[in-house]
Amino acid sequence: MSIKRTIAGRAAALAVLGLLLATDLVQAQEPLRVGLILPYSGPFADLAAQMDYGVQVYVKQHGDVVAGRKVEILKRDTGGPNPDIAKRLAQELIVRDKVDLITGVLFTPNAMAIAPVVTEAKKPFVIMNAATSIITTRSPYIVRLSFTLPQVVSPLGGWAAKNGIKKVYTLVSDYGPGHDSEIFFKKAFTEAGGQIVGEVRVPLRNPDFTPYVQRIKDIKPDAVFVFLPSGEQPVTLLKSAVEKGLLADGIRLIGSGDLTEDGVLEGMGDPALGVITSGHYSYAHESPENAAFVKAFEATFPNGPRPNLTAIGAYDGMAAIYAAIKAQNGKLAADPTIDFLKTYKAMSPRGPIEIDPETRDIVQTIYIRKVERKAGKLVTVEFQSYPKVKDPGK
Ligand code: PHB
Repeated sequence: MSIKRTIAGRAAALAVLGLLLATDLVQAQEPLRVGLILPYSGPFADLAAQMDYGVQVYVKQHGDVVAGRKVEILKRDTGGPNPDIAKRLAQELIVRDKVDLITGVLFTPNAMAIAPVVTEAKKPFVIMNAATSIITTRSPYIVRLSFTLPQVVSPLGGWAAKNGIKKVYTLVSDYGPGHDSEIFFKKAFTEAGGQIVGEVRVPLRNPDFTPYVQRIKDIKPDAVFVFLPSGEQPVTLLKSAVEKGLLADGIRLIGSGDLTEDGVLEGMGDPALGVITSGHYSYAHESPENAAFVKAFEATFPNGPRPNLTAIGAYDGMAAIYAAIKAQNGKLAADPTIDFLKTYKAMSPRGPIEIDPETRDIVQTIYIRKVERKAGKLVTVEFQSYPKVKDPGK
C-alpha cells in the first residue's frame, strides 16, 4: 500500500517536472511569427472578420504551440484593396517584426504588391483568399490555399450551356478576378455552344448597379453571369435586379460563389432563391469534416456570421501552416516550408484539397450549387461536382 503510494507520488512528481521542462523549453525559444494581412477596417471588414475567425477557430482547435514551438500571429490592417499599404505592411512585418511567414490577403492587388517583397526576403507567403490566377506566378514563395476564379467559373460555363442557358450577359468587377472570371466563363460557355450577348466591367469601389441592370433588361439575355467581390456588392446588385424587374422578366443570375456567399446570403432574402453559382465551399456542404468545422465556428462565434468561402480559405491556410511547422519539428524555414507545401494534401471541410507542385496552386472539387430554403435557412445546395479541378489559367 505505502509502496504503491510512493510510486504513484513519484510518477506524479515526474509528470509535473516533465510539464515544467516542456513549458520552459517553449518559453526559452523565440516564438514562430506569422504575419496576417487583412482589410480589418473599411468596407470589406466583414470579410476580414470571416478570415480572422477562420484562423481563430483553427488555433482554438489545435492550440498555439506546434511541435513544441509557440506560434504568434501578428495582425495588420490594409483598410481595403490598397497595394501600397499591403507592401509596406509586409516589409515591416519581415524587417522589423521578424515574421517567418506572411499570410492572409483578401485582395488580388495586395497579393501582387506583396509578391516581390517575399521573393526578395525569401519568406513563404500562404494565400488565404486572393484569387486571380496569375498571383502564384509572381513569386516562388507563394502557395495558395483558397481558389482561383478560372478554376471556379469554368465548370459553370459548361454547365450553363448544357442546361438551357443560351445567351449570357457578363457583369464583372473591373480588376484581376473580374477579368479572369469574364474570360474563363466566356471560354467554357462559348466552347459548349453558348453565346455572349454583352459584357460590362464595373468599378471595384462603390459601383451603382442601376444603369447596368436597366441596360441588361433591355437586351434580355437568358442569364447574367456575375463576379463581384463577396460581401455587400452582390446584395446591392440583387436589390437592383429586383427593383428594375430583371428577375421578374425571367432573366436569371448565375456566377462564382462570391455572388451568394454564406456571410450575406440570409440577408438577400427570397430573391436569391434559384440563383446558380459554382464554388469550392458551401456552409451546407454535407460531410463530417464540414459539420465539425461549422459547429466549432458557431461555438466560437455564437453571434457571428455563418462561415463563408473566405473563412474556409483562412482555416485551411492555417492548417497548412501548422502542418509545415510539424513537418519541420517546430521550424518554419523558407525553402523547406515551400517544398513541404508543394505536395500538401488534406481533407478540408470543403472536400479533398491538394497543392499542384508545378504551380503551387490548389487543386480541389468545384460544385455547382443552387440557392434553396432548407429548414427555414437560405443555403447553397450542391447538386453537381467536378473533382480535382486545377487552375486552367496557367
Ligand atoms: C480578390 O481580390 O482576389 C478577391 C476578393 C474578393 C473575392 C474574391 C476574390 O470574393
